[in-house]
Amino acid sequence: MIDIDSRELINDSPIRPRRLRRTTGIRQLVRENAISASSLIHPFFVVEGTGISKTIEPMPGQFQLSVDMLEPEIKELWHRGIRAVLLFGIPDEKDSEGTAGWDMDGPVSTAIARIKEVCPEMVVIADVCLCEYTDHGHCGIVDQETGIVDNDATLPLLGQAAVAYANAGADIVAPSAMMDGQVMVIRAALDDAGHTEVPVMAYSAKYASAFYGPFRVAAESTPQFGDRRTYQMDSPNAREALREVELDILEGADIVMVKPAGAYLDIIRQVRDVVDVPVAAYQVSGEYAMLKAAAMNGWLDEKRSVMESLMAIKRSGADMIITYYAKEVAGWLREDENR
Ligand code: PBG
Repeated sequence: MIDIDSRELINDSPIRPRRLRRTTGIRQLVRENAISASSLIHPFFVVEGTGISKTIEPMPGQFQLSVDMLEPEIKELWHRGIRAVLLFGIPDEKDSEGTAGWDMDGPVSTAIARIKEVCPEMVVIADVCLCEYTDHGHCGIVDQETGIVDNDATLPLLGQAAVAYANAGADIVAPSAMMDGQVMVIRAALDDAGHTEVPVMAYSAKYASAFYGPFRVAAESTPQFGDRRTYQMDSPNAREALREVELDILEGADIVMVKPAGAYLDIIRQVRDVVDVPVAAYQVSGEYAMLKAAAMNGWLDEKRSVMESLMAIKRSGADMIITYYAKEVAGWLREDENR
């Protein structure tokens, strides 16, 4: 046994942090962070056709949806207090330039217009990238001779896609291709087309991540050769994330994003500490898949572990969180309120 009188020592000390944890009411009073439905963004994968609701195998509870099937989902989300969605399109036909990306009759443009009809106040964010639209699955066009993703040749195509989504009624565009200069070119293209009021949410610090695996199944966008390491960030780097964020802000980004979220909480915090613009974080497909799988096996309490993971992202400094759990979380928040 140690030779100190612990009882006497603690009695002499006036400091007892447990006082503020004694009851639910006190704990709620001193709570530093909160998750609200209105700060969550729900992603969707939109396909062509009608009546389609196709299970995404590695993302139980998430579906590829045709526009008509998306409509009731949007209404339900609105009812639950979710105020923003992020759209990805999966066209029937893909080609080397990703031309379906700016097709006014493509799934994303059609979905934007429909959402604005049925739920005009829902904030519609359109992801701007070519990987869902190119037959090779890369985020830009590929130089035939070298096999390299051609940064500068890709930029005008991204600008064109952004303008197409803004024309369809998108409230925000979110470039995720990780091409240098993409924010600058998209800003100029939007302004030139009269969309000076459409903000750019930049995927600024987007890492080359294994956690995108399930998304690539969902978006049918796995690269047919090579990988994305020549344009997405290398996971050991943190300072570089700050540089990417700084550049995007200089180029006109209105919101910056860190992605993935869970494995990059340090990056969210560092970004939050140096920028004045809102910071978004993306709890990506693999993060969802891990939580879902463990929950489905009865290995984790789903609600508690999901809320804890989102709270960590919030506590790290994210103002808004993109998450496939948005709908469920909004439901849980309601339940708690009514209790
Ligand atoms: C497309 C894009 C990806 C994600 C969002 N936008 C995939 C990728 O870069 O490979 C991933 C999202 C997720 O995993 O949930 N450029």
